[in-house]
Amino acid sequence: MPSVSDILDTMDYGTAPESNAHAVAWLKQHEAGFGHFINGVFTKPSPKGFDVANPANGQKLARVSLGSAADVDAAVKAARKAFGAWSKLSGHERARHLYAIARIIQKRERFLSVLETMDNGKPIRESRDIDIPLVARHFYHHAGWAELIADEFPGHQPVGVCGQIIPWNFPLLMLAWKIAPALAAGNTVVLKPAEFTPLTALAFAEICREAGLPPGVVNIVTGDGATGAALVEHTGVDKIAFTGSTDVGRLIRKATAGSGKKLSLELGGKSPFIVHEDADLDAAVEGVVDAIWFNQGQVCCAGSRILVQEGIAPRFLAKLRRRMQSLRVGDPLDKSIDMGAIVDPVQLTRINELVEKGKAEGGTLLQASCELPTSGNWFAPAIFTDVEPSSTVMDVEIFGPVAAVMSFRTPEEAVQIANHTRYGLAATVWSENINLALDTAARVKAGVVWINSTNLFDAAAGFGGNKESGFGREGGREGMYEYLVPAWEAALKPVAPVKAAPLSALPPESVEASAIDRTAKLYIGGKQARPDAGYSYSVYGAKGKAIGQAGLGNRKDIRNAVEAAGKASGWSSATAHNRAQVLYYIAENLSARVEEFTARLRQMGASTKDAKAEVEASLARIFWYAAQADKYDGRVHSTKSRHVTLAMNEPWGVMGVVCPDEMPLLGFVSLVMPAIAMGNRVVAVPSPRAPLAVTDLYQVFDTSDVPGGVVNIVTGERDELAKTLAEHDEVAALWYFGPGVKAVEVASAGNLKATRASAKPRDWLSRMQGQGSEYLRSAVQVKNIWVPYGE
Ligand code: NAI
Repeated sequence: MPSVSDILDTMDYGTAPESNAHAVAWLKQHEAGFGHFINGVFTKPSPKGFDVANPANGQKLARVSLGSAADVDAAVKAARKAFGAWSKLSGHERARHLYAIARIIQKRERFLSVLETMDNGKPIRESRDIDIPLVARHFYHHAGWAELIADEFPGHQPVGVCGQIIPWNFPLLMLAWKIAPALAAGNTVVLKPAEFTPLTALAFAEICREAGLPPGVVNIVTGDGATGAALVEHTGVDKIAFTGSTDVGRLIRKATAGSGKKLSLELGGKSPFIVHEDADLDAAVEGVVDAIWFNQGQVCCAGSRILVQEGIAPRFLAKLRRRMQSLRVGDPLDKSIDMGAIVDPVQLTRINELVEKGKAEGGTLLQASCELPTSGNWFAPAIFTDVEPSSTVMDVEIFGPVAAVMSFRTPEEAVQIANHTRYGLAATVWSENINLALDTAARVKAGVVWINSTNLFDAAAGFGGNKESGFGREGGREGMYEYLVPAWEAALKPVAPVKAAPLSALPPESVEASAIDRTAKLYIGGKQARPDAGYSYSVYGAKGKAIGQAGLGNRKDIRNAVEAAGKASGWSSATAHNRAQVLYYIAENLSARVEEFTARLRQMGASTKDAKAEVEASLARIFWYAAQADKYDGRVHSTKSRHVTLAMNEPWGVMGVVCPDEMPLLGFVSLVMPAIAMGNRVVAVPSPRAPLAVTDLYQVFDTSDVPGGVVNIVTGERDELAKTLAEHDEVAALWYFGPGVKAVEVASAGNLKATRASAKPRDWLSRMQGQGSEYLRSAVQVKNIWVPYGE
């Protein structure tokens, strides 16, 4: 035993193990193995099962059932059966259930923390101080949403049965992020925990029973990827919420395409951690500890790309190396441990492989020389230097305690490197200059940005990403919308798709041969443009008579239009007031031409009455969105004390808008106006059979100060053009109204763009169906920026 003077010399301290007696006793009770939790009871452990091990020593903790398609089916049926009564409870009654769960979780905090640490390998300090308190917080917060549901989300209803699939890095916290909002909104759920870490979900099932939750409201089916896939494919499921790897997210996007299932995906990341030269370096170094060594770096929003301004890089690196060396790695149940075990040998192998690749590519690995336990899965904290933006370790999510460090010269360059990734989940910015910090936060493509802090979470703030980090938000008001649907939308009836004959191409000669060239061209970059291939097609009126021709656009035209929209980025940074002015101007110029547009709609088949109503409604709608341009804004969330958490509405950037057949002018206006009012630039495909009222708008746009490239219009075969839009990497979001939903959703899986696609015709004249915050909300994504204050 060291003497006091030894200790003062070394400043080393001993172990402080947390007792796991309670968790061990619980595991002993379940020695015979766990079944699934279906319809309020545990099924008998199935003969097909798998062992769950403690990552810190490799010892078996429990045996868990491997969910089959039949188990998933039983759980979905139970959830469906429970849905009726559960969704009809008042918000207050549901709130009481959620409060009851929250209170039991609080009472069991120590047990759950220990169990989580044994199952996952994370330090008890983290499960005790971060994971489990946030779990309780999430249920309390969402009990509040349940209470307020009728007031805060009028006209909305629950989606139905939700299939939820979670990863192993924050097992109970991810469960809470999924189950709490789903239940608050009135849904029932089938949740599949990750195969490495199912134990706290099973303990949670017991809590549901103890809290008196009605049977079938929460069902837990344990299993692997195949179990998850069975849940995704089950036709009785109305929504899938998934957190995990981008590859599986992409599979799920494809598997759910065309099914009508609502989808939210929270996927991987490679988040930048930017240290400007005026940062408080000691604080930033502590930030790195929380960014990449928290949870052994197995964090989707880990700050794994550390970007340091050139002038301070050597000093910062020296401090960082010193701090890294002082980290304590070992028994996760030891309260004085900083880093625990890697979740599974499979994950450890993956980390090792990527690290080897990083070294082979010329990176220098600096790793803490700490002593690691002899059994279990361990990886000492590390950083890579001598890397480039395209190095594997700067590009690929390692999901381990390894960050790559690079320097940058100017703040401009920092943003450029930060955005050089296919991900867009989170970012951290360190600077004592609030202007610089906020400017960087605004320009980094990420769903969450932490200023002078990192990895902060709270139930009141949304969390989620952009680009290949997925779409949808969890937490806060924005997260609630993922589990709700407008009642009118849920009531829309599908129609049998009409197989339209392909548009017949007229070669260029036939157009030039006609006496007057009446071919409406495309509208790209603020200019009328001939279609790339030179073809056009006839547009027919009510009596089947050709009334004009429209350009037959192709892939190349879409690409040109996307390029033009990309260049018009000034629109996204223009003030909302400026955008409102332009929209008012469009409305004013259209109002001077009401008769002409009415005549055009009549010519394309509408009755006089309908044509008039459509033009009037289009006008009113443009005014409405002009009025909203500077009013549909963000919020400040109440999260932690001495923090402002800004929820900023950001435009997607370039959006594809594929318009419906019904109401060709109003359909276009109802979609394009909210998109541009919120700062997006659009590439729109009008109704193929009745495009002429939209092509007549070119002149209106030309005379209304709409900057070139903000609205681009490509006429032609809808589904062919939609596919190119869906596949295009520069298109961040896509709205599609037409019969080809499935093909569009499959194609969108490439860059995991957010799509909103429907084959169900809606009544565009109705203010409820055709206009409103529903459209504005999907024209933006919320970026949460956390700003601490105080000295
Ligand atoms: P994963 O994405 O395979 O697993 C996540 C969950 O999805 C698990 O519950 C799994 O059983 C389930 N799943 C797997 N295949 C499925 C399918 N085809 N259909 C439905 N569900 C399916 O992640 P994994 O293999 O555990 O980790 C691999 C890598 O993924 C990690 O190294 C890390 O880079 C990343 N990852 C990212 C996470 C995040 O939070 N962003 C979480 C976990 C992993």
